[in-house]
Amino acid sequence: MPTLDLHAVEPSIDLSWVRVQFPALSQQVNGYPAAFLDGPGGTQVPQSVIDVISNYFRVNNANTCGAYQTSRNTDQVIAAARSAMADFLGCDSEEIVLGPNMTTLTFAMSRAIGRELTPGDEILLTHLDHDANISPWRALEERGVKIQLADIREEDCTLNLDDLAAKINSRTRLVAVGYASNAVGTINDVKAIVRLAHAAGALAYIDAVHYAPHGSIDVRELDCDFLTCSTYKFFGPHMGVLHGKREHLARFTPYKVRANTNAVPQRWEWGTLNHECIAGITACVEYLAELGRGATSERVAPDAPVRGGTVGSPTLTRRQALQSAYRAIRAHERNLSESMLRGLVQIPGLRLYGISDLVRLDSRCPTFAVRIEGHTPLELATRLGERGIFTWDGNYYALNLTERLNVEKDGGFLRIGFVHYNTEEEVERVLEELGKVARRE
Ligand SMILES: Cc1ncc(COP(=O)(O)O)c(C=O)c1O
Repeated sequence: MPTLDLHAVEPSIDLSWVRVQFPALSQQVNGYPAAFLDGPGGTQVPQSVIDVISNYFRVNNANTCGAYQTSRNTDQVIAAARSAMADFLGCDSEEIVLGPNMTTLTFAMSRAIGRELTPGDEILLTHLDHDANISPWRALEERGVKIQLADIREEDCTLNLDDLAAKINSRTRLVAVGYASNAVGTINDVKAIVRLAHAAGALAYIDAVHYAPHGSIDVRELDCDFLTCSTYKFFGPHMGVLHGKREHLARFTPYKVRANTNAVPQRWEWGTLNHECIAGITACVEYLAELGRGATSERVAPDAPVRGGTVGSPTLTRRQALQSAYRAIRAHERNLSESMLRGLVQIPGLRLYGISDLVRLDSRCPTFAVRIEGHTPLELATRLGERGIFTWDGNYYALNLTERLNVEKDGGFLRIGFVHYNTEEEVERVLEELGKVARRE
């Protein structure tokens, strides 16, 4: 198939096009334009996702596997979403499991894996992870499984890979780790961790929920055994997705009802799924692909060796378009991070938890955890919220981390999270407000 040399182009985001796609972004709060800096808790959705979901109810609303049109259409809606997520993650459709959210899918998988574990087997978790990649594995302690915890480097909230490597041994059966921290934004060297797990004969289970809106994922390149994400964190509906290598989805045994099929991957999906939201999954992946096609066509260098397609409308596969989108997203988010970090250091009494070094922007997402002396995170979030700036306070379920850093008892952190639809003006606004609070203005 014709290809475009993706390395000959420099994708960038057309932010005005992006913002028009998201109706929620034009809201006002108390006379202020709403600034959605709450992406790590869930992102806004483009109009195309809203349309597809309501259209499902209008013309396709049915249960699956029936011998009539709307039911057959529903089967196709599900197959299309599986195919979209396979392109998104770089795997085959049969390796995609759809479910209500990451937490539920992970509990289901931990129960299935756990039924094969015996007392003395070990599972390695980390202090940086969301509780959804902790508690489902901790639940296996009741079977005599021993939990190990890899520590962090406090100074920049990165994983201590020496500690992690030292805690993998011949009894380790599974290493569960996040791709990126939803609290402090650290991106982990997941590929290296998968390698360490496999060298000891352990499975690698990756929580990519926080990473998915910020970077392209390639499960084949990572060689992970399982990887989970949630579409509501990357501009889609409230749904979870699990990738499992085909051999694992076939070999492990799910708890399920007898009437449910034994086919892979449907044996991991139980009861009636949320078909309208599944329709929205395809639409959110298509939105990102469209962003990628536009990003590439905008910036194709005049002398770039374009093969297939034309400058202005390059022919990309959906997977290539997604990769192009994420290169553009990364570039835009790096700029936002740089402005944010430059501004945060000027605010008196503010402490940032996480990577602050401007030359290490590739190792973090634009997710910032801060505290300001003399103010609880809840006070800060409330004040920002009154001025139309939406942020989060607390632990956002990264409980291992807030406890490890001893901030849990003091209200956790204020979390300011950017995604690709956020702007430099929004960075300035939040910095200005935080500066006023810190100076007690
Ligand atoms: C890093 C991370 N992992 C897991 C989860 C849980 O995802 P879900 O809400 O789909 O269960 C979240 C949700 O905030 C998260 O940020």
